[in-house]
Amino acid sequence: MNAPPSQLFSGMIDLHCHLLPGIDDGARTMKQALAMAEIAVQDGITLAVMTPHHLNGVYDNPADDIRQQVRDFSEALVARDISLEILPGAECHLVPELPAALADKTAMTVADRGDAVLVELPVHTIPMGATTILEEIRTLGMTPVIVHPERNSQLRKQPERLADWVAMGCLAQATAQACTGRFGEPVRQAARHMVTSGLIHFVASDAHRDRRRVPQMSPGRQAIADWTSDEVAHLLSEVNPRALVAGRPIETQRLHDAIDCVRPSASLWQRVRNVIGLETT
Ligand SMILES: [Fe+2]
Repeated sequence: MNAPPSQLFSGMIDLHCHLLPGIDDGARTMKQALAMAEIAVQDGITLAVMTPHHLNGVYDNPADDIRQQVRDFSEALVARDISLEILPGAECHLVPELPAALADKTAMTVADRGDAVLVELPVHTIPMGATTILEEIRTLGMTPVIVHPERNSQLRKQPERLADWVAMGCLAQATAQACTGRFGEPVRQAARHMVTSGLIHFVASDAHRDRRRVPQMSPGRQAIADWTSDEVAHLLSEVNPRALVAGRPIETQRLHDAIDCVRPSASLWQRVRNVIGLETT
C-alpha cells in the first residue's frame, strides 16, 4: 500500500492491533490512530494488520466495513508521510457463529486472504464447544490463530489445552506487553512458559492507545530473546508474521529447533551452533 517496496521485506510485522479509529475500543480518533502509527514506525514496525473486534458481543465489524476503513486510514498515512504499511484483519471472538461468518465471508481474515483468522477467547473461561468451533474453522481450510492465550486464566492453568489446539493445526500469538509484565507476573510467566514450550508462533502488540497499550513490539521481542534466543525472537516478530500475511507456511520446525537449542537439556554442540548462528537443520 503506502510503504516503499523495501519495507515489505524488513522490520517487524504487527499482526494484531486496534489502530482503525472509532470502530472498537482501540483508537478513538484519526489523530490518535496516526499518533499510534508513528509510535509503531519508531519501534521498527513496518507492516501492521488492522484487527478490530468482531462478534464479541459489543463490536461487530464486518469485512466490507474493515476494507473501507483500511483504505481510508492508508490514505491518511500517505498524506502524513508515515511509512507504515497496513493490511486488513479482525480479532474474531470464539463464538458458535464464527465458522458460518467465515464461510459467508462476512468475517475478515488475516490480510483478507481467507486462510487464517485471529480468534479471541473470553478472559477467564474456555467456552463449551471451543474445540469443535476451531475444528469447524479448520474444516473451512483456515488456520485459527489463538490470540493472547497467556491472558486467559483457564489456559494459564491448563496450557495443555493450547497444546492440543496447536496439535490440531492452530497457531498462537502472545502479547508483547504480556512478555514484559504489563499484565502482571502470572501472565508474564504464562507467556514465558508458552513461548519456551514452542506453543507461540507470533508476538504482536494488541495496541489500543497511543499511551500505555501502545503499538510497540521491541520490548516484548527483547524479553523473548532473553528467555530463548535472538533467533526465536526474530521468528516470532518477523519471519512467522511475514509468512502468515503472505499465505506461506509457518516455519514451525525452525522454531522448534531454535527453542531446543536453548533448553537446559540442549547439547553443548547445539548451543554452540545457536550462539554462532548456524542453522540446526
Ligand atoms: Fe486485540
